[in-house]
Amino acid sequence: MSTTVYVSRDASALAMGAERVARALAAEAARTGADLRIVRTGSRGMFWLEPLVEVATPAGRIAYGPVQPSAVPGLLAAGMLHGAVHALRLGAVEEIAYFRNQQRLTFARVGITDPLSLDDYRAHGGLRGLARALDMAPEQIVSVVTESGLRGRGGAAFPAGIKWKTALDASGAQKYIVCNADEGDSGTFSDRMLMEGDPYQLIEGMIIAGLAVGATHGFIYLRCEYPHAQRALQAALATAYENGLLGASVLGSGQRFELELRLGAGAYICGEETSLLDSLEGKRGQVRAKPPLPAIKGLFGKPTVINNVITLASVPIILERGAEFYRDYGSGRSRGTLPLQLAGNIRHGGLVEKAFGLTLRELLYDYGGGSASGRPIRAVQVGGPLGAYLPESQFDTPIDYEAFAAIRAMLGHGGIVAFDDTVDMAEQARFAMEFCAIESCGKCTPCRIGSTRGVEVIDRIVANDAREKNEALLRDLCETMLHGSLCAMGGLTPYPVLSALEHFAEDFR
Ligand SMILES: Cc1cc2nc3c(=O)[nH]c(=O)nc-3n(C[C@H](O)[C@H](O)[C@H](O)COP(=O)(O)O)c2cc1C
Ligand code: SF4
Repeated sequence: MSTTVYVSRDASALAMGAERVARALAAEAARTGADLRIVRTGSRGMFWLEPLVEVATPAGRIAYGPVQPSAVPGLLAAGMLHGAVHALRLGAVEEIAYFRNQQRLTFARVGITDPLSLDDYRAHGGLRGLARALDMAPEQIVSVVTESGLRGRGGAAFPAGIKWKTALDASGAQKYIVCNADEGDSGTFSDRMLMEGDPYQLIEGMIIAGLAVGATHGFIYLRCEYPHAQRALQAALATAYENGLLGASVLGSGQRFELELRLGAGAYICGEETSLLDSLEGKRGQVRAKPPLPAIKGLFGKPTVINNVITLASVPIILERGAEFYRDYGSGRSRGTLPLQLAGNIRHGGLVEKAFGLTLRELLYDYGGGSASGRPIRAVQVGGPLGAYLPESQFDTPIDYEAFAAIRAMLGHGGIVAFDDTVDMAEQARFAMEFCAIESCGKCTPCRIGSTRGVEVIDRIVANDAREKNEALLRDLCETMLHGSLCAMGGLTPYPVLSALEHFAEDFR
């Protein structure tokens, strides 16, 4: 009987050489007659161990890593297919501390199943949430999502159930579900990992959203920088249509749901929901004034639910296990789990799905293992390029939307970028303003003009040119951007700037 060997096809694993390892395994098996079957999976999210190779043994999956192609002959000769001892042997994946202490609900299948096999998806619990939703009235689905406490994972943390209820109540013969897969924030990759590692879960979540609000058509708006996710989604969509999961009668229910993939062209602002809609309509992505809310007047002027990939992918398990099951995880008003992404100068970069409530310090040290350079972590930026820089004194803040808001920070999409003590925070503050100047859609003055002036003022402060006067001017400018910008692009850029100024003032001198 052949032994199953799992190698990730996730973009991060490929970047570390997983494709070459899979080829070396196939070649060595052909040369030695070893009987093995290679299954390509998503990544377990432990990037420092990639390329990770897992072997199915009677004692469960045994992992080896990081495996280079040159190590493959030695591994097979040592008895890897039986889980034998080797310098690269890590033991059972579930027992690796980084993985064992997680609470994987949304990422439960990622790294385990073949992402493109619908049979594998079903065999691991897929489509159970949809089956339940098909037996429910739209109002019931919406109330389960509302009661679960699920909030949008794209950044604004708006309650998903309230958005769905608005779209459900909006009148219109045509409604849409749009998945925001633009994932533009620095240090974030959970959307990509989910789409590459478990695309049917997103498709299932979108169908359930369609049933909930009465939408028969959906779009996934994917950033063009994600070619592997694009291929995975295209293949999964084709299989979903072939198997009657999508189309005129979802799983024979008589309910229609069509789903299409669209590629963005790489503008950060097209991740903002109203710009995204403009872009989907074929226009240049520019922010729309709200109201009207997209849930009432969205894509092509029709009621539209726009949710992030992780928000939508969290829906199947909520429908399958119930609102209470999901709500039991978390802290305060932040319910459920958040797939956190550890990036930057960190020893153990990767994905950690945990219930809200753990502290930044636990995340950075217990999971991340401290900085990659071995030097002290001086600052972390949480929530993408518009997120605040937090100093060591704030590392005990719990990962919770309200706790972050209380320190003028935000969790955003859960991306965490670590910096060691060699970082120049004045340079980071300047970068935040410059990023805003480059990525601004140009619609409103505080952001379009303010960000450019902001770069100039920071340069003057650092050059010791009338520092006090210019510092006051920078704070004044930030206030104007905070309160006068049309969207969060200009409205949040002051967060990284002011936090750098407040906590790392010495770097501006
Ligand atoms: C400048 C800017 C960029 C954004 N980029 C993204 C993005 O890449 N992905 C995302 O899901 N949400 C992004 N958002 C948030 C969206 O506007 C919106 O809140 C989200 O798609 C709603 O889905 P959710 O409620 O499921 O989070 C961005 C917002 C702003 C202001
Ligand atoms: S804040 Fe910036 S990105 Fe947002 S609408 Fe104004 S100019 Fe456009």
